[in-house]
Amino acid sequence: MAIRNIVKKGDEILEKQCRPVEKFDDRLHQNLDDMKETLYKVNGVGLAAPQVGILRSYCIIDAGEGYFELINPEILSYSGSQRDIEGCLSCPEDWGYVTRPETVKFKAQDRYGNWYEKEVSGLFARAVCHETDHLKGKLFVELIEERYYPESEK
Ligand code: NI
Repeated sequence: MAIRNIVKKGDEILEKQCRPVEKFDDRLHQNLDDMKETLYKVNGVGLAAPQVGILRSYCIIDAGEGYFELINPEILSYSGSQRDIEGCLSCPEDWGYVTRPETVKFKAQDRYGNWYEKEVSGLFARAVCHETDHLKGKLFVELIEERYYPESEK
């Protein structure tokens, strides 16, 4: 495994639509393993493939309920709303309040291509929205309703 460099805001790869994953091969598994190691190293909640320079539709999430790999994810339905502070590993300077659905139901494939469905709430739901936006080339910064400055807490 290896730590990958995280692409920062301003790099155009973060603004592009990802292509679907078609091959569930060793290369995909290697990328996922590296992304996992990278995510835990920086204590992140989620990481999307374009953030490590790969323009394919997959992401990983650990929102405190275990580690999940979402390949070709698709949100099926959502309900409720939650407003909280959000950040992004690609936008270290940007923090702010973002309103997201409270509950999200999604489908995705695992690293072997098997489809699964899951309904999640709270931080996990927020992460699914945030990471699937990355796969469409959308950054959370455009959704910030009110900026938050971590420094002012000190
Ligand atoms: Ni992000």
